[in-house]
Amino acid sequence: MPDEAYWATFFDPEAMLDRLLPDDGRAGDVVEFGCGYGSFTLPAARRVSGIVTALDIEPQMVVIVARKAEAGRVGNIRVAMRDFVAAGSGLADASQSHAMIYNLLHLEEPVALLREARRVLGEGGSLSVVHWRSDIATPRGPSLAIRPSPEQCRTWMAQAGFERIADVDLQDCSPYHFGLLGRM
Ligand SMILES: C[S@@+](CC[C@H](N)C(=O)[O-])C[C@H]1O[C@@H](n2cnc3c(N)ncnc32)[C@H](O)[C@@H]1O
Repeated sequence: MPDEAYWATFFDPEAMLDRLLPDDGRAGDVVEFGCGYGSFTLPAARRVSGIVTALDIEPQMVVIVARKAEAGRVGNIRVAMRDFVAAGSGLADASQSHAMIYNLLHLEEPVALLREARRVLGEGGSLSVVHWRSDIATPRGPSLAIRPSPEQCRTWMAQAGFERIADVDLQDCSPYHFGLLGRM
Protein backbone atom coordinates (compact mmCIF):
# COMPACT_ATOMS: atom_id res chain seq x y z
CA MET A 1 0.00 0.00 0.00
CA PRO A 2 1.25 3.52 -0.72
CA ASP A 3 1.41 6.13 1.99
CA GLU A 4 -1.98 6.60 3.64
CA ALA A 5 -2.34 10.32 2.88
CA TYR A 6 -1.54 9.69 -0.79
CA TRP A 7 -3.96 6.74 -0.92
CA ALA A 8 -6.71 8.99 0.45
CA THR A 9 -6.38 11.40 -2.47
CA PHE A 10 -7.73 8.86 -4.95
CA PHE A 11 -11.33 8.65 -3.85
CA ASP A 12 -14.15 10.09 -1.80
CA PRO A 13 -15.25 7.12 0.31
CA GLU A 14 -18.29 8.90 1.75
CA ALA A 15 -19.74 9.70 -1.65
CA MET A 16 -18.82 6.25 -2.98
CA LEU A 17 -20.50 4.41 -0.11
CA ASP A 18 -23.64 6.51 -0.53
CA ARG A 19 -23.96 4.69 -3.86
CA LEU A 20 -22.36 1.34 -3.14
CA LEU A 21 -24.18 0.39 0.07
CA PRO A 22 -27.84 -0.29 -0.63
CA ASP A 23 -30.42 0.40 2.09
CA ASP A 24 -31.02 -3.29 2.76
CA GLY A 25 -27.26 -3.84 3.01
CA ARG A 26 -27.10 -1.32 5.87
CA ALA A 27 -29.63 -3.13 8.01
CA GLY A 28 -27.33 -5.85 9.30
CA ASP A 29 -23.71 -6.91 9.58
CA VAL A 30 -21.16 -6.11 6.88
CA VAL A 31 -17.83 -7.75 6.03
CA GLU A 32 -14.97 -5.94 4.36
CA PHE A 33 -12.32 -8.12 2.74
CA GLY A 34 -8.91 -6.39 2.80
CA CYS A 35 -9.65 -3.24 4.77
CA GLY A 36 -6.21 -1.67 4.31
CA TYR A 37 -6.03 1.69 6.07
CA GLY A 38 -9.76 1.55 6.77
CA SER A 39 -10.53 4.22 4.19
CA PHE A 40 -13.94 2.61 3.70
CA THR A 41 -14.31 0.84 7.04
CA LEU A 42 -15.23 3.79 9.21
CA PRO A 43 -17.55 5.43 6.69
CA ALA A 44 -19.26 2.05 6.22
CA ALA A 45 -19.60 1.48 9.97
CA ARG A 46 -21.29 4.86 10.37
CA ARG A 47 -23.88 3.83 7.79
CA VAL A 48 -24.82 0.37 9.04
CA SER A 49 -26.86 -0.76 12.01
CA GLY A 50 -24.82 -3.91 12.62
CA ILE A 51 -21.16 -4.82 12.98
CA VAL A 52 -18.57 -4.20 10.28
CA THR A 53 -16.02 -7.02 10.29
CA ALA A 54 -12.84 -5.66 8.71
CA LEU A 55 -10.31 -8.32 7.70
CA ASP A 56 -6.71 -7.85 6.64
CA ILE A 57 -3.62 -10.03 6.50
CA GLU A 58 -1.29 -7.17 7.46
CA PRO A 59 -0.92 -6.62 11.22
CA GLN A 60 -0.05 -2.97 10.64
CA MET A 61 -3.36 -2.36 8.85
CA VAL A 62 -5.30 -4.05 11.63
CA VAL A 63 -3.67 -1.80 14.22
CA ILE A 64 -4.32 1.32 12.17
CA VAL A 65 -8.00 0.51 11.69
CA ALA A 66 -8.49 -0.43 15.35
CA ARG A 67 -6.92 2.88 16.42
CA LYS A 68 -9.05 4.84 13.98
CA ALA A 69 -12.21 3.17 15.23
CA GLU A 70 -11.29 3.96 18.82
CA ALA A 71 -10.29 7.55 18.03
CA GLY A 72 -13.45 8.08 16.01
CA ARG A 73 -15.57 6.44 18.73
CA VAL A 74 -17.01 4.06 16.18
CA GLY A 75 -18.03 1.07 18.26
CA ASN A 76 -19.39 -1.31 15.63
CA ILE A 77 -16.12 -2.32 13.97
CA ARG A 78 -14.48 -5.69 14.58
CA VAL A 79 -11.10 -5.72 12.93
CA ALA A 80 -9.18 -8.97 12.62
CA MET A 81 -5.88 -10.08 11.20
CA ARG A 82 -6.71 -12.93 8.89
CA ASP A 83 -5.64 -14.46 5.60
CA PHE A 84 -9.06 -14.95 4.08
CA VAL A 85 -7.59 -16.61 0.99
CA ALA A 86 -5.99 -19.37 3.04
CA ALA A 87 -8.52 -19.57 5.87
CA GLY A 88 -11.75 -17.95 4.71
CA SER A 89 -13.44 -15.15 6.60
CA GLY A 90 -14.33 -17.22 9.66
CA LEU A 91 -17.86 -15.83 9.50
CA ALA A 92 -20.95 -17.98 9.68
CA ASP A 93 -23.00 -18.88 6.62
CA ALA A 94 -25.65 -16.31 5.72
CA SER A 95 -24.64 -14.01 8.57
CA GLN A 96 -23.99 -10.75 6.68
CA SER A 97 -26.18 -8.30 4.81
CA HIS A 98 -23.41 -6.83 2.68
CA ALA A 99 -19.84 -7.60 1.63
CA MET A 100 -17.21 -5.15 0.36
CA ILE A 101 -14.29 -6.10 -1.89
CA TYR A 102 -12.40 -2.96 -2.87
CA ASN A 103 -9.17 -2.76 -4.83
CA LEU A 104 -8.53 -6.45 -4.33
CA LEU A 105 -9.92 -8.54 -7.17
CA HIS A 106 -6.59 -8.68 -8.96
CA LEU A 107 -5.62 -11.39 -6.47
CA GLU A 108 -4.89 -14.90 -7.72
CA GLU A 109 -8.19 -16.65 -7.13
CA PRO A 110 -10.91 -14.01 -7.40
CA VAL A 111 -13.80 -16.43 -7.83
CA ALA A 112 -12.88 -18.31 -4.65
CA LEU A 113 -12.98 -15.03 -2.71
CA LEU A 114 -16.29 -14.05 -4.31
CA ARG A 115 -17.71 -17.46 -3.36
CA GLU A 116 -16.61 -16.86 0.23
CA ALA A 117 -18.40 -13.51 0.14
CA ARG A 118 -21.51 -15.19 -1.20
CA ARG A 119 -21.37 -17.91 1.46
CA VAL A 120 -21.52 -15.41 4.31
CA LEU A 121 -24.30 -13.30 2.78
CA GLY A 122 -27.83 -13.93 3.90
CA GLU A 123 -31.03 -13.89 1.87
CA GLY A 124 -31.19 -10.63 -0.11
CA GLY A 125 -27.56 -9.88 0.66
CA SER A 126 -25.43 -7.77 -1.64
CA LEU A 127 -21.80 -7.34 -2.61
CA SER A 128 -20.07 -4.17 -3.73
CA VAL A 129 -16.87 -4.33 -5.75
CA VAL A 130 -14.55 -1.43 -6.48
CA HIS A 131 -11.40 -1.61 -8.54
CA TRP A 132 -8.91 0.54 -10.37
CA ARG A 133 -9.99 1.14 -13.95
CA SER A 134 -8.09 -0.88 -16.53
CA ASP A 135 -9.02 1.32 -19.50
CA ILE A 136 -7.02 4.40 -18.48
CA ALA A 137 -3.64 5.10 -16.95
CA THR A 138 -3.93 5.75 -13.21
CA PRO A 139 -1.38 7.18 -10.80
CA ARG A 140 -1.45 4.03 -8.66
CA GLY A 141 -2.91 0.57 -8.74
CA PRO A 142 -1.65 -2.85 -9.79
CA SER A 143 -0.06 -3.32 -13.18
CA LEU A 144 -2.51 -3.05 -16.08
CA ALA A 145 -1.65 -6.64 -17.00
CA ILE A 146 -3.39 -8.02 -13.91
CA ARG A 147 -6.19 -5.47 -13.49
CA PRO A 148 -9.63 -6.92 -14.12
CA SER A 149 -12.09 -4.98 -16.26
CA PRO A 150 -15.68 -4.44 -15.08
CA GLU A 151 -16.75 -7.13 -17.56
CA GLN A 152 -14.26 -9.60 -16.10
CA CYS A 153 -15.47 -8.83 -12.57
CA ARG A 154 -19.08 -9.29 -13.67
CA THR A 155 -18.21 -12.70 -15.10
CA TRP A 156 -16.44 -13.74 -11.90
CA MET A 157 -19.32 -12.48 -9.77
CA ALA A 158 -21.80 -14.45 -11.87
CA GLN A 159 -19.60 -17.56 -11.55
CA ALA A 160 -19.70 -17.12 -7.78
CA GLY A 161 -23.49 -17.01 -7.84
CA PHE A 162 -24.30 -13.31 -7.86
CA GLU A 163 -27.17 -12.04 -9.97
CA ARG A 164 -28.55 -8.68 -11.01
CA ILE A 165 -25.06 -7.19 -11.23
CA ALA A 166 -25.25 -3.45 -11.84
CA ASP A 167 -22.72 -0.74 -12.60
CA VAL A 168 -22.33 1.92 -9.93
CA ASP A 169 -21.29 5.26 -11.39
CA LEU A 170 -18.36 6.60 -9.38
CA GLN A 171 -17.00 9.08 -11.90
CA ASP A 172 -17.53 12.22 -9.86
CA CYS A 173 -16.21 10.72 -6.63
CA SER A 174 -13.49 8.38 -7.84
CA PRO A 175 -12.44 8.94 -11.44
CA TYR A 176 -9.85 6.16 -11.37
CA HIS A 177 -12.23 3.44 -10.20
CA PHE A 178 -15.29 1.53 -11.29
CA GLY A 179 -17.97 0.07 -9.05
CA LEU A 180 -20.31 -2.89 -9.27
CA LEU A 181 -23.16 -4.05 -7.08
CA GLY A 182 -24.27 -7.67 -7.15
CA ARG A 183 -27.12 -9.41 -5.40
CA MET A 184 -27.76 -12.99 -4.42
C1 LIG B 1 -4.89 -2.52 -2.22
S1 LIG B 1 -5.33 -2.72 -0.55
C2 LIG B 1 -7.00 -2.08 -0.54
C3 LIG B 1 -7.45 -1.68 0.83
C4 LIG B 1 -8.88 -1.16 0.90
N1 LIG B 1 -9.83 -2.17 0.46
C5 LIG B 1 -9.03 0.10 0.08
O1 LIG B 1 -9.54 0.02 -1.04
O2 LIG B 1 -8.62 1.16 0.56
C6 LIG B 1 -5.61 -4.44 -0.37
C7 LIG B 1 -5.60 -4.92 1.07
O3 LIG B 1 -5.97 -6.31 1.09
C8 LIG B 1 -5.13 -6.98 1.99
N2 LIG B 1 -5.04 -8.39 1.58
C9 LIG B 1 -4.50 -8.86 0.45
N3 LIG B 1 -4.57 -10.21 0.41
C10 LIG B 1 -5.16 -10.59 1.58
C11 LIG B 1 -5.49 -11.87 2.15
N4 LIG B 1 -5.21 -13.00 1.51
N5 LIG B 1 -6.10 -11.88 3.35
C12 LIG B 1 -6.37 -10.72 4.00
N6 LIG B 1 -6.06 -9.49 3.52
C13 LIG B 1 -5.47 -9.43 2.31
C14 LIG B 1 -3.80 -6.23 1.92
O4 LIG B 1 -3.02 -6.42 3.09
C15 LIG B 1 -4.25 -4.79 1.73
O5 LIG B 1 -4.38 -4.10 2.95
